[in-house]
Amino acid sequence: MNLQELSALYPEHLATVSQRADQALARGGFDHLVVPSGTAHVQVFDDRDYPYAVNPQFKAWVPLTRNPGSWLVYTPGARPKLIYLQPLDYWHAVPDAPSGWWAEHFDIVVIRKPGEALEQLPKNASRCAILGEPQSALGDYGAFKPNNPPAVVGYLEYHRAYKTPYEIAMMREATRRSVRGHRAAERVFRAGGSEFGIHLAYCQAVGQDASELPYGNIVALNEHSAVLHYTDFGRLPPAPVRSFLIDAGADFGGYASDITRTYAADAGSEFQALIEAVDKAQQDIAQRYRAGHDYRQVHLYAHLSLACVLKDFGILKISPEAAVETGVSGSFFPHGLGHGIGLQVHDVAGFAQSDQGGTIAKPDGHPYLRLTRTLEPGMVVTNEPGLYFIDLLLEELKQGAHAGDVDWNRIDAFRPYGGIRIEDDIVVTEGDPINLTRPAFADLPQDA
Ligand code: GLY
Ligand code: MN
Ligand code: MN
Repeated sequence: MNLQELSALYPEHLATVSQRADQALARGGFDHLVVPSGTAHVQVFDDRDYPYAVNPQFKAWVPLTRNPGSWLVYTPGARPKLIYLQPLDYWHAVPDAPSGWWAEHFDIVVIRKPGEALEQLPKNASRCAILGEPQSALGDYGAFKPNNPPAVVGYLEYHRAYKTPYEIAMMREATRRSVRGHRAAERVFRAGGSEFGIHLAYCQAVGQDASELPYGNIVALNEHSAVLHYTDFGRLPPAPVRSFLIDAGADFGGYASDITRTYAADAGSEFQALIEAVDKAQQDIAQRYRAGHDYRQVHLYAHLSLACVLKDFGILKISPEAAVETGVSGSFFPHGLGHGIGLQVHDVAGFAQSDQGGTIAKPDGHPYLRLTRTLEPGMVVTNEPGLYFIDLLLEELKQGAHAGDVDWNRIDAFRPYGGIRIEDDIVVTEGDPINLTRPAFADLPQDA
């Protein structure tokens, strides 16, 4: 990543985040925004910590993901202040001194013990909107206990859907890293590796350990691809290996990528043809990621596209329209088309009606859709249609009124392959959608 580019883009990002904070504080009637980075979580009846996860409200300001015990303080009109914990500790690695394209924009105070933050925080905690988890409260007296005022959090989360150019650059880099992993993963799949081996090769190529990735890798061979969030990592490859689905992202400075690819072991197989049909549908659906489009309608359009694929492959005996109408398409595509992505792989406020509250309902019969807002410029949304052969759902279909709408022999032919998902991350603009994912694959050909 070009650091000069990030240095050039960051001031505008900080200005946007600051303006949003000004407005959020005004809405909530507070004078200061105070955001703890979070603390380690100790496992129950044990002395081990869970992997530390930074407070997303903190990394919205600074690209720091491994700094528990630090605090951000923003007061409208003043430079933001970073209270930076750099403990004197010989048991654990200590964070480096603060540096990077962002550092010059903050008043930075280094503290050596978590409690020292108290002297650096605003004097009157009751005038502060403190965003975080309860255990971030300072010390034995619970000072600066997060209050998470709904008016403040609701405003910030709603507007976080609109990414700044800096954030899009960060997500491009997260994508680039992830694609290195996807290329390595495909190579290990082709060489006969196990799910666990593929996962390790992915982490190695991305340069991130499992706890640093934005979500747990989904690495599925054969029927395992029919488990939507299959994260078990078989230690031995199955025999024969027929198919491979990998849903894996990467982190860059707290921003996520979320990418899925599906492969057939046999390039001449009908499953390969089915992958290509889903891929074509996916790219067609991407053209609907345009400002002004109601995402619920885009999701329903994806159902129709996938039902057309099912029809073309002789799986459906009824029309694609009827399959969507009756819910039969949902037996094969039982999740949402996509979700906002950014600081969190599943970004917040997907159902928010406005920055003052309200909820946009999901369409009836589509309980897993995570985004119901109308698409607007700056949103980054995944596009992840899929077709799966899931025993549980197929059994329900077989027992129901629509059992005769599908060809069970065709379904049985595809069951051993599990399923297909193809997922890209798309930026909605004033004009054509920008696909963050496909150019990154084009820039890193498999034979490179
Ligand atoms: N990786 C989880 C998802 O695609 O939503
Ligand atoms: Mn996704
Ligand atoms: Mn995914």
